[in-house]
Formats: sequence, C-alpha cells, structure tokens
Amino acid sequence: MKVTVVGAGAVGASCAEYIAIKDFASEVVLIDIKEGFAEGKAMDLMQTASLNGFDTKITGITNDYTGTTDSHVAVITSGIPRKPGMTREELISTNASIVKSVAENLIKHSPNVILIVVSNPMDTMTYLSHKALGLPKNRIIGMGGVLDSARFKYRLSEALDCPASDVDGMVIGGHSDTGMIPLTRLATRNSVPVSEFLNEDKLNDVLEKTKVGGATLTKLLGTSAWYGPGAAVSAIVQAIACDTKKMFPCSCMLEGEYELEDICIGVPAIIGANGVEKIVDIGLDDVEQAKLLESVNSIDKTNGILSEMNLI
Ligand SMILES: NC(=O)c1ccc[n+]([C@@H]2O[C@H](COP(=O)([O-])OP(=O)(O)OC[C@H]3O[C@@H](n4cnc5c(N)ncnc54)[C@H](O)[C@@H]3O)[C@@H](O)[C@H]2O)c1
Repeated sequence: MKVTVVGAGAVGASCAEYIAIKDFASEVVLIDIKEGFAEGKAMDLMQTASLNGFDTKITGITNDYTGTTDSHVAVITSGIPRKPGMTREELISTNASIVKSVAENLIKHSPNVILIVVSNPMDTMTYLSHKALGLPKNRIIGMGGVLDSARFKYRLSEALDCPASDVDGMVIGGHSDTGMIPLTRLATRNSVPVSEFLNEDKLNDVLEKTKVGGATLTKLLGTSAWYGPGAAVSAIVQAIACDTKKMFPCSCMLEGEYELEDICIGVPAIIGANGVEKIVDIGLDDVEQAKLLESVNSIDKTNGILSEMNLI
C-alpha cells in the first residue's frame, strides 16, 4: 500500500504521522511545492519510527509527481487554510485551481488511485475533482463528516461526562458551519439514545458547538486544526488499505441517493478496497431531510463559482 499525501503542511503531516503510527501502509510519500518542506517533514517523521515502532517508509518530494507513481491512495490537503473569522467557502478562489492541477497530476502518475479530498471548501473541491477527472464515483471521497462526527462525539461525551468511546454518533450534510447536520436523534451512549440522558437544551448546545467545531479551534489556534483532520483521514485510508468496509460519513457524488443528483455532500458510505463501496440511504425524518436540502442549496451555490472560474 503506497499512499501519497499532497501538501506537507499541518494537516498533511499529521495525516502522514497517523498513517505511519497505525502501521498498515508500506510507504507514504509527502509532496509539497515549498522547496525542501516535504523532505524535512518526512525526515522528521522517519526519526520517530524507532520511537513509535512503525515500519512505514515516509519520503518527501518537492513538486515532482514521478515519485508518487502507482500510489493506491492519494490525499489532497494542498491549499490555504482559513484564518479566524473566515468561512471555508472563502478559500475557493485560491484552492480550486490548486486542487484541480494536483488531482490531474496525481491521476497522470497513478491512473488507478483512490483520491481523498481534504482541501476546503471540501464538498466543492470533491465535486471539482469528479468533474475534472471523470473517474468512477467510488474513487473520489471527500473527508469532512468523519472529523465532524468525531467532534460531535467529543461534545456528546463532554455533556454526558463519559468517555468518547461510550458514544456513537454521526454528522452528515455539508462540511460547513451552517451545512453540517449532527444526527442527535440517532446518537447513543452504549446503544441507549442520548436523549435519555440529555434534555433538549443540552442536546441543542452539543449540536451548536459541533457545528462551529472548526471555527472554535481556528480562533484558538490562529489557523485551522490538524490532529483531528489527520486522524480522520488516516481512518479512511486504513479502511481502504485493510478493506474493512467500515461506514463513515463521506462526501460522495450522489446519483439519486437521498433523491439528490450531481452534488457531493456528506452521507454514510461503506469504505473498502474500492473506495466508496456503497452509499447507505438511511431514513431521515422530515426535519433532517429539509436540513439536507438546505445544505445542498448552499453547496450548489459554491459549486457555481467553479464555472465562473472556468474550472468546470
Ligand atoms: N476537510 C476537512 O475536514 C479539513 C480539516 C482541516 C483543514 N482542511 C483544509 O486542508 C487544507 C490544508 O490545511 P493546512 O492547515 O494543512 O494548511 P497548511 O498551510 O499548513 O498546508 C498546506 C500546504 O499545501 C502546500 N501547497 C500549496 N499549494 C500546493 C500545490 N500546488 N502542490 C502541493 N502543495 C501545495 C503549501 O505549501 C502548504 O505546505 C486547507 O484548505 C484547510 O482548509 C480541511
């Protein structure tokens, strides 16, 4: 299993680190446009191998895709992150052309690669990658919901005063402050609905804190977070590498599922060796379905900018 991570910045390096620590990949290639940056991050990470007990070989490259040849999975984290007060959507003018050229370069050298798109605005960058490459829809996966779900579980465990491992829950919809839909109705503590323990006010508080999870960290850190995003990406890469068929909310190209067409948005998906092996159509109630449609409309608007930029 060879994994390429494009962008050796905060998220890319964290992603490489978690993949290596989990020790399921033979090789991770970090690539960045900043001269020497990926090489430096790779060397620093390799010097943790004997300490952390992994055998994954991590190499770094400055902007030469020949070293990415025949990657099984490639993760796109290249582009700028948001600063405090910014929305993810505001990044489109810089990130869209970066993501498009990176995706094209990756596919040139690894025609069978499965792509995981992380750069923001992620749902639109995933849509752009589908449109630019025309790959089968199972081979392009947007990562947002796995992170948002982890943040949801963190906030639930905080409210319940219990370990996060006691909690199960999922966030679907767009990867944006307003578009994400934490499914509080379905969240459980060891299979007991969380509504048995938390009243409506407390559940609403969890929901609101989850939705601004990224913005809260951006305000504290001065840039967007990296440990959570890196760990979330590594979970998807592991599901592909080990063909686990785990279900994660991922941004997938929809062709009729949830009565939606031609949109990439977070929905539950089974992830295995072929990427998205199945989109799982769970029964949403009327409120959740209405929120999903609202989220779709907002992503559609951002997707419209891609045509204005002549990228699709
Ligand atoms: N989907 C998610 O859940 C999620 C979570 C966190 C961050 N993000 C997004 O991930 C992206 C990266 O965030 P970060 O904090 O790592 O930023 P960062 O600035 O630390 O790293 C980005 C890296 O990309 C590199 N880069 C820029 N253009 C490139 C190109 N053409 N080819 C190769 N490398 C290039 C930069 O040199 C930089 O090292 C941002 O767009 C951010 O918004 C997404």
